[in-house]
Amino acid sequence: MKISNLVYVFSLLSLIMVWSCKKDAESAKVPSTVKFMVISDIHYFDPSLFTLPANTYFQGYLAADRKLIIESSAILKSVFASVQSEKPDFLLVPGDLTKDGEKLDHQAVATLFKGLSDKGIKVLVIPGNHDVSNSASFSYLQSAKTKVDNITATDFASIYSNCGYGTAIDRDPGSLSYVSEPVNGVWVMGIDACHYSPVSETAGSISDATLTWVKSIIAKSKTQNKLLISMMHHGMVEHFAGQSTLFPEYVISDWQNVSAILADLGLKVVFTGHYHAQDVVKKTSTSGFVFDIETGSTVTAPCPYRTVTLNTALKTLKVESKKITDVSYSTIPSGTSFQQYAQTYLGNGMKDISYYMLSMPPYSIPGAAIQALALDRIMANGFISHYAGDEIPSSADNADIQTVKTAIPSLGGALQGVWTDLTPVDNNLTIDLTSGAAISN
Ligand SMILES: [Fe+2]
Repeated sequence: MKISNLVYVFSLLSLIMVWSCKKDAESAKVPSTVKFMVISDIHYFDPSLFTLPANTYFQGYLAADRKLIIESSAILKSVFASVQSEKPDFLLVPGDLTKDGEKLDHQAVATLFKGLSDKGIKVLVIPGNHDVSNSASFSYLQSAKTKVDNITATDFASIYSNCGYGTAIDRDPGSLSYVSEPVNGVWVMGIDACHYSPVSETAGSISDATLTWVKSIIAKSKTQNKLLISMMHHGMVEHFAGQSTLFPEYVISDWQNVSAILADLGLKVVFTGHYHAQDVVKKTSTSGFVFDIETGSTVTAPCPYRTVTLNTALKTLKVESKKITDVSYSTIPSGTSFQQYAQTYLGNGMKDISYYMLSMPPYSIPGAAIQALALDRIMANGFISHYAGDEIPSSADNADIQTVKTAIPSLGGALQGVWTDLTPVDNNLTIDLTSGAAISN
């Protein structure tokens, strides 16, 4: 070969190498903004598993609950339409995907998620306390209550292989925790704090082995210069003063220490669910901070969802919240908006649940006393306001709180805690992930 030809070949090869390096650099480029959405506690119950009017067993279940279970499939379809129109890069769903872990429901939900991923919206899930090895998986057809198949942890990872597990870049061998990189440079760590061995429980904790794995992922995210966000079903931080005493199953065990350890290591944000409330709290540790951004349930008023914009250069998170509005189902009367229906359903449900809670230990208040002071209504109002977020008691609410404080000081104190919104604001805020400052949008 002539020298001139050799020079030509080398020049061509160099050009090809420069081009391919440039392509690699472009494909590894971190986008300046990343948009994702969060929906939680969707509690899907497939219409093939029940008939209406609800039979006695199903009525009993619904009466002891606060969730729009009958309408869950219509609600999910409505919020998916909103997700499709917002076109986020990915969608986070931090657990309680099903009513009670029914295999058929998981399969239906995974199929619906595939509809989103087929349109370019990646879906990442983590289990909730209802999802794995649940002993309450039943159908309610005609007059019968019949056991239906539930799923194991292995089944969960397999059914949701398209929602984080199949493309995980790391998985915790001892739980359903994993890490995914849905967008270049952004890691999502799903932390599985659920108890499901041998059967599911409401409470949650991060086991020692999983905590070691979580710490290793935080360290790796730093050395590999990845922006790390995380999600978990249970609260990592208490969402109102006294929550871990009144409702210990809704915050992970030893939350004070675990959240401080992870904040010190550099975890900045965790998206949670479980308590069905729109609430953001910030835990400050010795050398760091972590925001626990809880998203309410799509099946509990106000049926919210969140849109989050991550500015990767400024390292800020802009969180915005909306309510699901466009749902039609045979149970929703014509002329009644879905939001009105959902609020009325929750109002009635919480009053009944509050009555039951007040009549049980530790308060054990006689029914006549509950009714005389309208304690069930007062408690229900507190919870409903907490679920909506940014709760500020009116003068009438403050008078109610005072009534309870005078009659039963410990209950009044608990109610004051529910009504006291810990900083920062809950629905619309921007968080500076470097300084830890949070301001209202
Ligand atoms: Fe839930």
